Amino acid sequence: MKFFIDTANLAQIQEANDLGILDGVTTNPTLMAKEGIRGTEAIMAHYKTICEIVDGPVSAEVLGTTFAEIVEEGKKLAAIHENIVVKVPMIKDGIKAIKWFTDNGIKTNCTLVFSAGQAILAAKAGATFVSPFIGRIDDGNWDGVQLIEQIVNIYNSQGFMTEVLAASIRTPLHIVRCAEAGADVCTCPLSSILGLLKHPLTDLGLEQFLKDAKAMQ
Ligand code: G3P
Repeated sequence: MKFFIDTANLAQIQEANDLGILDGVTTNPTLMAKEGIRGTEAIMAHYKTICEIVDGPVSAEVLGTTFAEIVEEGKKLAAIHENIVVKVPMIKDGIKAIKWFTDNGIKTNCTLVFSAGQAILAAKAGATFVSPFIGRIDDGNWDGVQLIEQIVNIYNSQGFMTEVLAASIRTPLHIVRCAEAGADVCTCPLSSILGLLKHPLTDLGLEQFLKDAKAMQ
């Protein structure tokens, strides 16, 4: 399973990249706005900087909602860097645009996916990635990981090439369960990635080893 970081914060992207386990980045308008990025030029420059830090797919989301707007914006985003993946919402014009991008060699990430039916449509349009939002599904009292399992099964049995990118990850356990469910990619906040490191027995064991190491000196 590939690890993407789900943020537009450059320090966090750098920190995750320095760990040596980062395969890519996803952003969305909320995450970009949180970093105080305003205006087309600043947005484009920010994506370029991210692409210079991480050698892997970087999802940049379109802000338009009509076919013409999405295609126009997506072409500009894709021109920033070869690693840009155009992130398109799961709406009728979005599916149409994903098909257009597929036919024109531009990679896409179909976002705001909450059902298997939506995931089938994204795959039919040729999306490179599909992003089911598992944390938000859990918030509604359903099981987000179950949806990942269902989409993985459908894609495998149907031979769809779209990669299942589990998004809206909130905890380290989400990452483990998505790996079990067969997700191709997990996009996570830095806190969830670092949370995978933690175990009290590791801390206790290391404390003892360091104490014994001192006794040997
Ligand atoms: O990038 C989309 C997704 O990961 C959003 O997560 O926590 O806002 O539901 P969240």
